[in-house]
Amino acid sequence: MDLSPPERLLCGPGPTNVDPAVLDAMRKPMLGHLDPVLHDILLDVVAKLREAWRMPAGLVLPLHCTGTGGMETGIANLLEPGDTAIVAQCGYFGRRISEIARRHGAEVVEVDADWGEAVPNERLIDALDRHPHARMLAAVHAETSTGVEHPLAQLGEAMRGRDTLLMADCVTSLGSIPLEAGAWGVDFAYSCTQKGLAAPPGMSPLAVSERAMERIRTRPTPVPFSFDLLLLERYWIERPAAYHHTAPILGIYALHEALRLALEEGLEARWARHESAAGHLRRELETRGLEVLAGPDCRLAPLTAVRVPEGVDGKAVQGRMLGEHGIEIGGGLGPDAPAMWRIGLMGRNASVETADRVLAALDAALNAERSPVPASA
Ligand SMILES: Cc1ncc(COP(=O)(O)O)c(C=O)c1O
Repeated sequence: MDLSPPERLLCGPGPTNVDPAVLDAMRKPMLGHLDPVLHDILLDVVAKLREAWRMPAGLVLPLHCTGTGGMETGIANLLEPGDTAIVAQCGYFGRRISEIARRHGAEVVEVDADWGEAVPNERLIDALDRHPHARMLAAVHAETSTGVEHPLAQLGEAMRGRDTLLMADCVTSLGSIPLEAGAWGVDFAYSCTQKGLAAPPGMSPLAVSERAMERIRTRPTPVPFSFDLLLLERYWIERPAAYHHTAPILGIYALHEALRLALEEGLEARWARHESAAGHLRRELETRGLEVLAGPDCRLAPLTAVRVPEGVDGKAVQGRMLGEHGIEIGGGLGPDAPAMWRIGLMGRNASVETADRVLAALDAALNAERSPVPASA
């Protein structure tokens, strides 16, 4: 079989389309992972990432795994068996944090909100008051399963002065909505490459505060080898670089170019572009009588979840959009998710033009699904 994947417009929850310049970067000459020229490139990636995270101090580097690996790395480094973790759960990814934390032996205190809502910070602080020795409090900044944004800056502010570390899932927020990991007091933030940064999947950028690094340096039990940030720091930052594993060189070139493009555009401009594309999409969806899942005060720009109208087969509509229009959108995630479509406008696809292409295909697919089947002759 020839390898000839079709062109798709990727407007689901991620991945998004890769910028052509990023694809070009992946065709540059391959280096070895111990080549000093590569080691300079690594440091440049770290410097760019520091700007993208707005994290002036602490450790910044990308892991060689996807967003889930970033999540597990945070848990593996910050928690030890028996530690308490408070987790804000208002969708699939908050629950995944709890699941992974339990597998690492933590006691998890779940603080829930319904689909389409953010967990109020007051309830998280209340849980913290009841569990003042909790090692970590985790929240999903951009809950891709519901299209909800958590007020992370305010959470960081409310936690200031406490010993509990703040972990934030920024898989869908880095490069797409306002995020200032340093100023907001985030201790451990992880992201991905395939959404706001519009690079291929495969890496997980991290930002770790000084105080979290100090806790990791002084913890009595070692961190599992693959997740060990102190070893990764020796390869990515310290010189001469010490081998930890064979780095995915071409993925690193891709991330370098994706970060260069994001910083060249300017973070504020990029955030505003995502917000204006999302605002247009939401308005048009509501004009059509469709209901956006997230409440008006917590809507996430890069991902809009919209309820499938009564009597419509949501999966069939998705299938038509993909098969007849070459446009991918997502459906509900997890067994108890309400029937929904999830439309992502991320990276290059965060534009009014792309939103209009998705809306036109959605209109056509919905009409086709609603039209009565012609009676057979
Ligand atoms: C909010 C959030 N967290 C974590 C993940 C997991 O990331 P990955 O699929 O790259 O492992 C995703 C993936 O979509 C996500 O949206």
